[in-house]
Amino acid sequence: MVVYRRLRGMRDYLPEDVKKLNYVKSIVRELFRLFGYKEVMTPTLESFDLLAAKSGEEIRHRMYAFTDLGGRKVALRPEMTASIARFYVNNLRGYSKPIRLGYIANCFRYDEPQYARYREFWQGGFELIGSQLPEADAEIIEIADLLMKKLGFKRYYIKLGHIGILRAILSSELIEESEQNRIFGLMDKGRLSEAIMRLKKLAASPRCVRTISELANLKGYATKDLILKAESIITGYDEAIKHLENLREVLECLKACEVESVILDFGFARGLEYYTGVIFEVFAEGFKLALGGGGRYDRLIELFGGEPTPAVGYAPGLDRIVLAMSELNIPFKFREEIKTYVVPTSNDFKLKLKAIEIAHLLRENDLGVELEVMGRSLRRALSHASARGFTFAIIVGTKEISKGKVVLRDLELNMQYEVTLSEAINIIRNRNKQRLN
Ligand code: HAM
Repeated sequence: MVVYRRLRGMRDYLPEDVKKLNYVKSIVRELFRLFGYKEVMTPTLESFDLLAAKSGEEIRHRMYAFTDLGGRKVALRPEMTASIARFYVNNLRGYSKPIRLGYIANCFRYDEPQYARYREFWQGGFELIGSQLPEADAEIIEIADLLMKKLGFKRYYIKLGHIGILRAILSSELIEESEQNRIFGLMDKGRLSEAIMRLKKLAASPRCVRTISELANLKGYATKDLILKAESIITGYDEAIKHLENLREVLECLKACEVESVILDFGFARGLEYYTGVIFEVFAEGFKLALGGGGRYDRLIELFGGEPTPAVGYAPGLDRIVLAMSELNIPFKFREEIKTYVVPTSNDFKLKLKAIEIAHLLRENDLGVELEVMGRSLRRALSHASARGFTFAIIVGTKEISKGKVVLRDLELNMQYEVTLSEAINIIRNRNKQRLN
């Protein structure tokens, strides 16, 4: 017999894994509420051309792409920003701005499977559409910061750069966008010397090469001094100076909302090609890979047929966040309701019917209940329930039932009481309240 295995790079999520992932999703949704992002869903499958347009060389080659039965070239989404830009153009064009959209979605990339890199993974996301002002960038970065705080990360930082500055310098040398993207792709992978070589091959001026090299080595805390240094490096590139001013304003806004965990990196580039302004990634100390990434993309919506519409967004990688929390021993603060196990004292059919009835009644009262369905003896059923973390058992016995009562066993305190069903419900409810507070 063939034993099928799951595909390489794909994950099975066990109940514990789902519980942790759902916890992180719940915090993402809490931020949707706090910042006014409306959750939306888009299809897993999109046109390949849409997804490939600005995804960058790396992702473009790693898409699950195929021709469907109608002969269309389609692909599983490798990320959500392209889908959201299309979604906006198709559904929300006339709406008053800004538009704040949130999502929680599985994404697919045919990455080489390795630690914390999967072929299917979950992203949360926040896209703020319609504003080109620094307060919009700052809002998105504040969200990234608050997510880390709310999840309980203490030592983390947001690596912040500005692709607009780099683009402005290369554009002033008339280097085409596709070439710029190739150079940024190399910088994204830390291959700076290759990026510089490429610049030289494109006959960039020595001043341009020097400026890019110096910027690439300029990083540190977001101090006035660092910004002044950047300014002196890019003097003479007027467009780049405008972008630096934008970065300065974003940093001012971040101060106002107490985002202190920023590290500036002027040589920072990201693989995705749609970015036009600030870009950032989030890291936790002690965990190597980025826990999220984002930035400003002012031309994507236009590229997909909308009017020129600025936008900025962030996508936390949910699987990686779960992994980092587990590794760094950050507790998942589950809000877990207590569970009750209902067990008849014998396999007598009438008694079992009574147990079904009682379990049903408890659920009607909104209490989570599992029924003994394996025909275990009372002793075994109770030890099974204890081992599985149940707080209470309701023991359904003929003697008690004849008096209109049940036995409520407190599995945590190892005590039991003969009570009416409504008394039992009250006791369980009260314990639930204490637990959830
Ligand atoms: P990204 O940096 O490609 O950005 O992905 C965001 C996050 O998804 C990463 O930081 C990482 O945590 C997670 N991630 C990416 N690939 C994998 C993988 N193979 N396995 C596990 N986790 C992964 C974007 O996707 C942009 N759409 C972000 C954005 C939104 N920009 C503007 N708005």
